[in-house]
This record gives sequence, structure tokens and C-alpha cells, in this order.
Amino acid sequence: MPEPSYLTALRESYDTVAADYAQIVPKPRELDPVSRAMLAAFAETVRTDERGPLADLGCGPGHITAHLAGLGASVQGIDLSPNMVEQARRAYPTLSFTVGSMTALPLPDAALGGILAYYSTHHTPPESLPQLYAEFHRALAPGGHLMLAGHVGEDECRRPAQAYGGHPVSYEFHILPAGRLAALLQRAGFTVTARLTQEPAEGARWASATLLAHKPDTDTGPDTDPDADQGRSPGC
Ligand SMILES: C[S@@+](CC[C@H](N)C(=O)[O-])C[C@H]1O[C@@H](n2cnc3c(N)ncnc32)[C@H](O)[C@@H]1O
Repeated sequence: MPEPSYLTALRESYDTVAADYAQIVPKPRELDPVSRAMLAAFAETVRTDERGPLADLGCGPGHITAHLAGLGASVQGIDLSPNMVEQARRAYPTLSFTVGSMTALPLPDAALGGILAYYSTHHTPPESLPQLYAEFHRALAPGGHLMLAGHVGEDECRRPAQAYGGHPVSYEFHILPAGRLAALLQRAGFTVTARLTQEPAEGARWASATLLAHKPDTDTGPDTDPDADQGRSPGC
């Protein structure tokens, strides 16, 4: 099947910005204490629950992957952009980084004890979120844990011309309410256990949300109610 055009645009765009992104993006130690606490809580949960290793999906230059490894997690990074993976491998040569899409993970069923998607799912068109969350569900072991973090707000789609140091980019990104993301996770078979919203930082446009969820030990599969939210949003 041909690759969806949004993935091609994403790969090209992140390949273009990778070197500057790795420098510009705040390092984990520069994150606010609440965000660092959420990452620490998640790393501890996955480590002590012993369902399997952790994958940082859309790991970019690997700063968060390395932070989780420093917290004792057995973790690998996966990213669509070969240049991002190159940045990550160069900065953290002892860790494992793979080029791949979170929409079709290069992993067998139930291989993971945890999935982190840190500011990396907002480029997925909303109507494709049900399939994306189904893929996360497939790759997690029963009882496995998921942490999603990203910007949230009223339904909005943006198509910036430039990003991260003025490089041309051709991707879109989508802002959705946290409640919608939680409902879509639940519909994909996850149990959502926590939802933290942080108000926009000074001068910033959007709030941020962190959702914690797990795949139940006894899997009842996705909710197939045809009237439920399918993720559709107005286009860009
Ligand atoms: C804004 S960056 C975040 C990187 C990293 N998580 C961080 O917090 O620094 C988004 C990353 O997600 C990756 N990404 C987006 N969609 C992806 C997909 N379908 N599969 C794998 N990686 C993806 C991009 O290539 C990019 O590196």
C-alpha cells in the first residue's frame, strides 16, 4: 500500500529541521518540574510493572529517550525521520534508535510494557487517530502502559511554512481537546487513568496535556459503536 502523503511530508520536513531541532528543543532538565515528574512517574510505572520494555515513539533527537534510560527504564527510540535518528544515535550511541513509523511499528504483538508518545502524535490526521491508537494497543502487552503528551485546545489545524530555525516545512499539525483524545483512547480499548492539563506557558498559544492509560489485562478489544467519535475534524 502506498504511504499516506502526510507521512512523506512529515519525514521530509523533520529530516530538514533535524540538526537545528536537536539544538533548539529544550533538554529534559530544562522542562518544567511537573512535566519531568510525569516522565519520572511513567518511567517508574513501566519499570516496576515489568510487562516489557518501553518505546519512545517519535523520539526525535532522543533527548527524552536518554532521560528515560537515565531513570532506569529499558527504552528504545523509534522515529520516522532518518536524520532525527542519526542525531539520536550520534548523541546517545549506547541506546537503540530505529527508523520506523508509529503507524506500523516494526514490533511483534504485545512486545512492549510501555509506550511514550511525547509531542509526536499531533501530525497524525484526527481521522487516523483510531488506527494509530489501535497500533499502540497491538504492540503493548496486556497491562502495558501508555503516556501521551502534547498540545491541546479547541479543534484547530495549522500548516506552518517554516519551523525550527526558519527551515521550510510541509507538514500539518492538529490541536484537539484533551477530552477527545481520551475518548478515542478509550474507544481503542485503553483504560485512561490520568489526565493532566497545564495552562499555556507565558506567551504560548496552547495548553499541554499528559494522558496516562493502560491496556487492560483482560482485553475486551476496541469499542465498535458506529455512533462513537471517529476522530474526524475540519481540515486545514
Ligand atoms: C515535535 S518532534 C518531538 C520529538 C521528541 N519526542 C521530543 O519531545 O523532542 C515530533 C517527532 O515525531 C516524529 N513523528 C511524527 N509522526 C511520526 C510517525 N508516524 N512515526 C514515527 N515518528 C513520527 C517526527 O519525525 C519528529 O521527530
